[in-house]
Amino acid sequence: MSKLSIFFAVCAVVCQSEALKLPDYITPCSRKDPNFNECALKHGREAIPRLLKGDPKYGVPVLDPMYVPEVSVEESGIKITARNFTIEGARNATLQDFRVDFDKLIVSIQFMAPQLDFRGKYELSGKLVSLPIIGKGDFNSTFRGLIAKYETQCNFTKKADGKTYLMPLDYEMEFEPEFVRIYFGNLFNGNKLLGDAMNSFIAENWRLVLDQIGKPAYRALGMIVHQILVQVANKVPYDELFSDTD
Ligand SMILES: *[C@@H]1O[C@H](CO)[C@@H](O)[C@H](O)[C@H]1NC(C)=O
Ligand SMILES: *[C@@H]1O[C@H](CO)[C@@H](O)[C@H](O)[C@H]1NC(C)=O
Ligand SMILES: *[C@@H]1O[C@H](CO)[C@@H](O)[C@H](O)[C@H]1NC(C)=O
Ligand SMILES: *[C@@H]1O[C@H](CO)[C@@H](O)[C@H](O)[C@H]1NC(C)=O
Repeated sequence: MSKLSIFFAVCAVVCQSEALKLPDYITPCSRKDPNFNECALKHGREAIPRLLKGDPKYGVPVLDPMYVPEVSVEESGIKITARNFTIEGARNATLQDFRVDFDKLIVSIQFMAPQLDFRGKYELSGKLVSLPIIGKGDFNSTFRGLIAKYETQCNFTKKADGKTYLMPLDYEMEFEPEFVRIYFGNLFNGNKLLGDAMNSFIAENWRLVLDQIGKPAYRALGMIVHQILVQVANKVPYDELFSDTD
């Protein structure tokens, strides 16, 4: 059983939209190109550094560092909320794969991030890998050698301007980190002895810990990719996303 709620300031819903062309730093590919995926990967690699800096015209916020107001998860006996946190390091990630399934309207993107740093506020209570835990304060976490796979199901939507837009729906993430460090400050109402013991336990058992409470981190990371796709697809009509015209 898992309950996951996230709140992101995605402007897709509130921003007034007007059809735009692709930004000039994104070179479109042709849907008729038999090597479409290779073309998308090449041009995606070129565009990402620029996109991560944010592009207000397209509603893309600064994504490195990315600011996340709140993510929370309640799962297998623990409730954890992370607030006001940043994720830094996406600029060093390498795009490894970019695929579009035009029949099923599924977009899949794989990337490798050498290092991602999370830093912000947290609150948690419950049982972590069967140990009672409670805390509220600052946290930081570092993911190294992370391979991540993002996948989103899309749909078409017709807007008031009569044009058809691609609409990325929800997304799924798969992750394989080489090494993860997580540190929670002020555990057990600031009891240093208990807090240090718990942080050592977490350091030694990070894979188990991540299996239980990693979901909000994964959701938040996926949001970096998702925000780019949602915002661009919301501003640029479907046909304008490609170089072929029909
Ligand atoms: C998060 O930041 C907002 C705005 O800076 C602030 O109002 C709020 O109190 C902060 N929340 C936490 C939990 O620190
Ligand atoms: C990105 O990589 C450069 C060069 O290896 C390194 O100096 C820098 O600290 C990295 N930045 C982040 C945010 O990880
Ligand atoms: C994480 O927080 C702890 C405690 O405040 C601190 O000792 C450590 O240097 C922090 N790590 C990073 C990468 O900021
Ligand atoms: C996609 O849109 C169509 C028509 O609006 C709708 O019937 C269908 O349920 C949607 N598919 C998904 C996966 O949301």
